[in-house]
Amino acid sequence: MMAGMMMAPRIAAAKAQENLSRVDALIARMTIEEKAGQLNLMNDPFRWRPEGINPGDTFDSDQAQTAADIRAGRIGALFNGVGAASTRYVQDMAVKESRLGIPLLFAADIVHGLKTTFPVPLGEAASWDLDLAERTARAAAVEGGAAGVHQTYAPMVDVARDQRWGRVVEGAGEDVLLNNLFAIARTRGFQGDDLTHWSSLVATPKHFAAYGAAEAGLDYNSTDMSEQMLRSVYLPPFKAAFDAGALSVMSAFNDLNGVPTSGNKWLLTDVLHGEWGFAGFVVSDYTSEQELIAHGYAADGRDAARLALMAGVDMSMKSGLYIKHIPELVQSGDVPVERVDQAVRRVLMTKAALGLFDDPYRGSDVRTERRVTGSREHLDLAREAGRKSIVMLKNEGDLLPLPRTGKRIALIGPFGADKTDVFGPWSVFKDMALAVSLEEGVRAALGDDAHLTVVKGSDVEAPLAGGIEAAVLAAGDADVVLLAIGESSEMSAESKSRTEITIPDAQLALAEAVAATGKPVVVLLRNGRGMELSGAVNGAAAILVTWFLGSQSGNAIADVLFGDHAPTGRLPVSFPYKSGQSPFYYAHKSTGRPSRPTDREFTTKFRGVPNEALYPFGHGLTYAPIRYSAVTVSSPTMTRDDELTVSVTLTNGGERDASEVVQLYIRDRAASITQPVRLLKAFKRVTVPAGASVETSMTLKFADLLFLGGDLTPTVEPGLFDVWLAPSAQSGEPAQFTLV
Ligand code: NOJ
Repeated sequence: MMAGMMMAPRIAAAKAQENLSRVDALIARMTIEEKAGQLNLMNDPFRWRPEGINPGDTFDSDQAQTAADIRAGRIGALFNGVGAASTRYVQDMAVKESRLGIPLLFAADIVHGLKTTFPVPLGEAASWDLDLAERTARAAAVEGGAAGVHQTYAPMVDVARDQRWGRVVEGAGEDVLLNNLFAIARTRGFQGDDLTHWSSLVATPKHFAAYGAAEAGLDYNSTDMSEQMLRSVYLPPFKAAFDAGALSVMSAFNDLNGVPTSGNKWLLTDVLHGEWGFAGFVVSDYTSEQELIAHGYAADGRDAARLALMAGVDMSMKSGLYIKHIPELVQSGDVPVERVDQAVRRVLMTKAALGLFDDPYRGSDVRTERRVTGSREHLDLAREAGRKSIVMLKNEGDLLPLPRTGKRIALIGPFGADKTDVFGPWSVFKDMALAVSLEEGVRAALGDDAHLTVVKGSDVEAPLAGGIEAAVLAAGDADVVLLAIGESSEMSAESKSRTEITIPDAQLALAEAVAATGKPVVVLLRNGRGMELSGAVNGAAAILVTWFLGSQSGNAIADVLFGDHAPTGRLPVSFPYKSGQSPFYYAHKSTGRPSRPTDREFTTKFRGVPNEALYPFGHGLTYAPIRYSAVTVSSPTMTRDDELTVSVTLTNGGERDASEVVQLYIRDRAASITQPVRLLKAFKRVTVPAGASVETSMTLKFADLLFLGGDLTPTVEPGLFDVWLAPSAQSGEPAQFTLV
């Protein structure tokens, strides 16, 4: 049941009606405290016993309290409790020992795998491969479902245009279209085609909304933007996920235009339910409703619970404010019981959609868990996803791929032998035993003939005594250096914003010393964001962006290094020249004084820095040079009813077949709301055989030209458009057409 064929879940109308009757009958029997309990999500304190809980085991105070609350119907959902044995045990408490026997909902942060870890979402987005994303999400859901989980806090669909923000790593990068498409693919993968199946997890797109626009890239920071911008850039990926069937959503931490999102009725009710007809429930991000107090929006805990609930937050994560205050808020008349019933209905309808009332354990059992977790099939998929996520930024003199024999290789840097930083952030449930280091991957590829020396040279953020000397010796003895440098997973994650998106100084010093040996260097960059690459790092002959590739990291990198897989990845984020250009993104507006690299004074750029990316969005090379011909359009004009065919010829001047991602961008030259200098509208993977030329065409539709007008409705105006078919957002010459 691989996911390629799957569709959004369809619950037959009759079944939905049956669920509704069942749920409403239950609500009619619930006390106000039991209702508040269904809206109360807490940490699962039982998960530390992976083999489950045995009769006679004693509980610590947290476990004892949680058990008592579950039995009293004061908790409706638990999170990050993973494991078939322990979830079954805890589910028993709810089903057999609480008054109404309502099953618990088990939620977890299954973001890029459970035990088998796939590339971080940003890395996987570099594959530009939606089928792959659906398959890895499916595999993650299979492992999660077998472990008793019902809901995942993923996909993260925040458009992220400021690379200082640590959470760029969790999403699909800076582009709206890419975020939309990955949101759909991942939602489908997680939810599968039958939500009642044990392997289907409710998807929870997050963080609603505009969390990725945090000022200065500082995590949790406020956002203030026009509704135009919000609706054009930050909301579409959520809408795409809901259209694909996502049944839950997480409200965010940030203030949005003066009203924190977790207390924002306009966002969580008017737009979400009113405009979009969202059918699922809203869960707050970890204590975000409580944080309304720190935001200066709520006076105290009672006020925060009231404001969040009335805004549309149905389930409270971790703060305990709902169970504490809802009964009294209803009794005092400050919250109508109808609003509580509505929230409970949304939560219970989700439980019903999952089939929990028919089978609270949903077939999760220890044997299935053992069979599917870390299976050969999943590890093979992790390796495939890993190699498809790698982006080759440069390859001077065709240094790559390396021959398998006859070269002495020095593997230098903090990530050469490392196994802890292959997974990346949000790998809460990873299995360390499944990790393949770079060293192991290279050794496995080279076999017994390997002439490989491994030297750490530096810690990630601090020098290592004697490290540089050892590295220089190893480089001197080698024919080629693999320099494994970059960020640790600690540097690119929640709350890990950085002012400089650079390689840490200690590693830069290592890179300079290694470069001074004159040996050819391949930089293997580990990173969770777009980065500033400078000095010897950017001066290396070859650079591969390897993100955090997950369990099979070392094997996946070796596949590309030695040419078993020619690189196919493309950057989903821009790599600017300098950190200080942040936020830098390709789809920016023009100013009145646009700059080109050769321009001098009084144009838009920082002193001494081109107003461009060093490695632009969409960039990525392969083991054959591809040349683009001039772009042609099927007609110089287009009308509302037309489609335009845009064509280009690709020529492969190399000796290997190439897989090229052709990107279609447009620019609306003059509009009543100014439009980006380029905007991705479509892309397509094209195989260009060695030595051959291939003509390829893409279709531009009228709908592709729409933008949100001043009245916030989709509009388009007649006039001149540029259209590119290009290998990146910063290359190619456009053709023109006029919309008449
Ligand atoms: C806070 C994070 O913002 C969110 O992404 C995550 O799902 C929750 N914590 C739960 O771990």
